Formats: sequence, structure tokens, C-alpha cells
Amino acid sequence: HLLGIDLGTSSIKAVLMNDQQVILGSNSQALAVTRPQVGWSEQDPADWLTAVDHALQTLQQAHPQAMADVQGLALSGQMHGATLVDAQNQVLRPCILWNDTRSYQEAAALDANPIFRQLSGNIVFPGFTAPKLVWVQKHEPALFAKLHKLLLPKDYVRWWLTGEYASDMSDAAGTAWLDVAKRAWSPELLASSGMRIEQMPQVLEGTAVSGYLHPRLAERWGIKQRVVVAGGAGDNAAAACGMGTVTAGSAFVSLGTSGVLFAATARYLPNPESAVHTFCHALPNTWHQMGVILSATDSLNWYAQIANQSPIALTQALGENLKPPSRVSFLPYLSGERTPHNDAKIRGAFTGLSHADQQVDLTQAVLEGVAFAIRDNLAALKAAGSHLERVTAVGGGSRSPYWLKVLATTLNLPIDLPAEGDFGAAFGAARLALIAATQAEPFSVLTAPAVAQTIEPETQFIQAFNEAYAHYQHLYPALKGASL
Ligand code: XUL
Repeated sequence: HLLGIDLGTSSIKAVLMNDQQVILGSNSQALAVTRPQVGWSEQDPADWLTAVDHALQTLQQAHPQAMADVQGLALSGQMHGATLVDAQNQVLRPCILWNDTRSYQEAAALDANPIFRQLSGNIVFPGFTAPKLVWVQKHEPALFAKLHKLLLPKDYVRWWLTGEYASDMSDAAGTAWLDVAKRAWSPELLASSGMRIEQMPQVLEGTAVSGYLHPRLAERWGIKQRVVVAGGAGDNAAAACGMGTVTAGSAFVSLGTSGVLFAATARYLPNPESAVHTFCHALPNTWHQMGVILSATDSLNWYAQIANQSPIALTQALGENLKPPSRVSFLPYLSGERTPHNDAKIRGAFTGLSHADQQVDLTQAVLEGVAFAIRDNLAALKAAGSHLERVTAVGGGSRSPYWLKVLATTLNLPIDLPAEGDFGAAFGAARLALIAATQAEPFSVLTAPAVAQTIEPETQFIQAFNEAYAHYQHLYPALKGASL
């Protein structure tokens, strides 16, 4: 049996599966994000450990026999976060998360040094790890002086599980310190941001063995075997493994806290100018491209909180049938944007409000605004050489049939819903654990799951959504000029 653990932003999800990849159980534990200042986003790493412990204890209670037989485990995780630990492995400050944009000036300064785009293949976005460390050097020098290891979120959990300092290629690619073509840390990029290679964990393929679970933790969770801990993956590459998005041309859209349009590529195909991310995939010799928006379900959750409703109640109020696009527009830039704008300072907006508009119109605008932002990403991927013919949907937002109809029609692409849609990244991690534990051939494990349903674009609305998208595209430049 295998365990996959996804350290998300809003929750930790653990899945338990057998060697035939049948999911036997899963458990989620909520996580909170703190925003001590505008643009900041932090978590206490201790909360991740508590959440993993609770999830695995819950699985142990529900499935004691299967848990006893676990032989492999892998982690998937929210990318880019900076977890700083000292020589005693004490966490030095709250983790600075992927959607924290405080270091936008440091990011711009690093990005102005051409070696970053050349070697890392990407714009240095404010959310990436390197500018966060430059920010810490500048604002918290005493704390930085104690830095022993810099770990990505899931890799801190890995250290707790195994005692090893390790990362995997897909997650490491999001630091801005990896030579993404060579699949190795770049001492030059590290030095250009005041870091030393000794401060980094070793970097492995996602399918490789990174260590073994501490026997005392195995015992705590009722596991009787020696447990291989695989390299694992950043959450997007892990979700791709879950859905078999590993061969060129296959793609998925993720409606999670962030929104991601992800395409696998057989080669390293950087195109930083389009603000597309080009990262290593979680299996050897493969790469991927993706467009990332910072607030997907985060936008709906934000609005739901203000409306004092649950996100589900809000989307259900829209009914079953797709409506023509709302006259209200929503720009989902609540904490700035990555693809395509690379703008940490821009903020969101509702435009076109009138007396007639009700709560339901604003909900519709939010869902459409996120879909339009993802269409911007489709254009960016196209510019970077990925032509998509269909996409698979994952993430919490893919549970809304209305949202999927909006998205399929906006993108003019069929959207497949996998039967295991709920288990994207955690399931993908469990599959990486299976490969590491059994040495199975990766492509034979990472197959596409059965499609439960396909959502087709609604042809009678395509023209109207094209027009609404064209209108949406005019709003960013206008808002940029008008923002504080
Ligand atoms: C990817 C990114 C997000 C996080 C979300 O670049 O920042 O998708 O990985 O967990």
C-alpha cells in the first residue's frame, strides 16, 4: 500500500491506495493562512506537521490493516514557499508562501539580471523563492544569519518524516535557483541572491528514493513495514502525475486556491517573455509549461465570505444552465497576478455594476473573471508552443458544474472530469511513491484515469463569451493606469 500527502494551501490531504492504484481512503485537514500585511501570506510550518499527523491517524483508525502494509509514501506540496531552519532544525520564521508578493522589488531586481531567465527558464516572479530570501536578507538580517537550510514546504515535512534534507526537480524548479535544463542547482543563481549551495537540500527526481520514514512515526501510524519516501513533486506536477498528464500534448486546468493551466512537454521549452512557467516535471527527462493565476477558488472564497454564504450555495444559486456572460466584470487580481501580467501591485475589481445587479450576478462575474484569466493563460501557453485540444479539470472549483461550463465555453475546449477528480495531487504523489517503492516503469503507472464526464463548450454562447473576454482584456490596462 502507498500513501500520498498533498500539502495544499487551504488543507492537507492524505490518500491511501493499494498497489493496483485503488484509493482505499482519504482524509483532509484544514490549514489557515495569515496575512499580517497587505500582500503578505504566511503559514506556521508546525501546523503542517500537526495536520499530517491528524490525517494519518485518522486513516490508521479507518483502515488499520491497509495502513499496517504501507511501503511507500510521497509528498506533493504548494510550491515556492520559503521555510527557513537553523542548525538545530528550528523554524526561524513563518513560511512565506507562494502567493505572498512582498518581495516584488527584489524579484524585479533579480529578473533584471539576465542569467536568471537564461538558466532558470523563467521570469523571477515575486512568489518564487529566491526574491523572498533576498527580502529576508534585507529586512531580517539577524534571522538570515542563522539560516542553515532553506526548504520548500513539502520538503520541511519530508525532513520531519525522514530526517533528510531533500527536494525534487519539479518543486526545485520554482525557486529560480535551479538550472532547469540541466536539472541541478545553479551555484551561480544561488550566489546572485546571496545564497550558498550548502544551504539547499539535495535535489532528486520525483520518482527517486529520498529517504525512509522514521520508525517512531511509522509506529505511531500503525505502519509495520519500512517505508520508502519518494522525491515527490510540486503540487501541479503531482496533479499531472495523478491525471497522466505526462506526455506532450496532454494538459489540465486546476481550479484550486490558484488557477493553473498545465501542459506536459517532452523537451525543455522555455519562454519567459510570455510569463509562462517552464519547470521540470516529476519524472526524469520531462518538463512542463504552465500559466498560473494567483486567485481562482480564492476569488470565490473571498466573495463568499463577504456575501456571508458558502461558495457552494453561491454557485448553486446560478442554476444548471449556462447563462450569457454577465454585464458585470470581475478581475481576480486580489493579490496581484503572475501569468500573463507579472504584476504584484495590481488588485482586483468589479466593473460595470448597476442597480439591477444582485448577489447572483456578482457570483457569475467572479466565475467568469477567473475563466477569462485562465483564457489569458491559454494564449500564453500557445505563444510558448503548447497547443491544447482538450483539458482535464481538477481542484475544488471543478466540483461546480456551472463553473466548468463557463470555462469550457470560454476556452472553447472540451473539459474532461476524471473519476478521481478529488484526489489530483495527493493521488499523483501516491503514484510517485508506487514507482519509487517498486521501481515500476513511470509511464506504465502514470496513465490517464477514466473520464467520468466531458463538459463540451456550449456553441450558442461562444461568440458572447468571446466578446465578454475581449472586453475583459481591456480592463487590465485601464485598471493598471487607475490603481493606487
Ligand atoms: C505554482 C503556484 C501554485 C502553488 C499552489 O507556481 O504557485 O500553483 O503551487 O499550491
